[in-house]
Amino acid sequence: MCSYRLDAEYADPTPLQVRIDTHEKYSERPDDPGADVLAALSLTGTEHLADIGCGDARFLADLAARGHQGPLVGIDIAPAMVAEANAIPGVRGVFGSADRIPFDDDSFDVITARHMLYHVGNPPSALAEFRRATKAGGSVTVVVNHPRACPYTGELVAAHAATYGVTVGDAFAGTVDSDTLPAMMSDVFGDIRIHRSDNALVFDTPDPLIRFAEALFAFYGIPTHHPRRQDISADLRQDIEDWFTHHPGRTWRDPKGYIVVTAVVDAG
Ligand SMILES: C[S@@+](CC[C@H](N)C(=O)[O-])C[C@H]1O[C@@H](n2cnc3c(N)ncnc32)[C@H](O)[C@@H]1O
Repeated sequence: MCSYRLDAEYADPTPLQVRIDTHEKYSERPDDPGADVLAALSLTGTEHLADIGCGDARFLADLAARGHQGPLVGIDIAPAMVAEANAIPGVRGVFGSADRIPFDDDSFDVITARHMLYHVGNPPSALAEFRRATKAGGSVTVVVNHPRACPYTGELVAAHAATYGVTVGDAFAGTVDSDTLPAMMSDVFGDIRIHRSDNALVFDTPDPLIRFAEALFAFYGIPTHHPRRQDISADLRQDIEDWFTHHPGRTWRDPKGYIVVTAVVDAG
């Protein structure tokens, strides 16, 4: 189970898109987990590939745009995300959960699961499900963040939520992160390969940081229609603007990173 409101967070694709765009534009070093996944997989372009927890399916859209010929399937538990996937030519969106993939055994040549395993109550059982649905000789690639990625922005949002009585504990105290995933994957698949990325978000003006912080709101118990959302937002904005005013020439730097773990499914 998640400690935050998953259904609220992914009912609307916009906050996820703001977060992805922020990582693309405001990372200290180039940040492209999709490219790292592609580098790990060396696709031929003919694979039957499922992206589990596909979100707005931009990874699959990119594959389709590169001319991938094999079937591309985006599986997500949020209907809004399934709709996003289905809107992309060459991509099929399917409603389903990582721990109960609605496909037969040995269906896919490749399964990817990028930044989604933290939302699953029992990650090892989802990994076993990825294995079940992948053909022998096929690949499974999983991306997860480092523990406590972007802690300062998260603490800021949590503090402002708390002033209005909203507390959800540590919103990102998930069941899996870059410290724990390798052992979990080894248990299910045997040999694994790991690519690690260490980075930081860096902001030198308030507005993009405010947008990013607001895109975390649902994780901290402040969904779109929360009665105090406007007040929390106004206080947060003021606080961030004050920080930049009182720290002239300084940047807001928040450490983050992820690992990409790849396994080949054996015949056993
Ligand atoms: C942080 S987003 C990541 C989206 C995309 N993979 C990316 O990296 O941009 C997590 C996604 O996983 C989906 N999700 C959460 N729990 C899921 C589950 N049990 N099965 C399938 N999808 C799930 C959410 O709806 C959301 O679209």
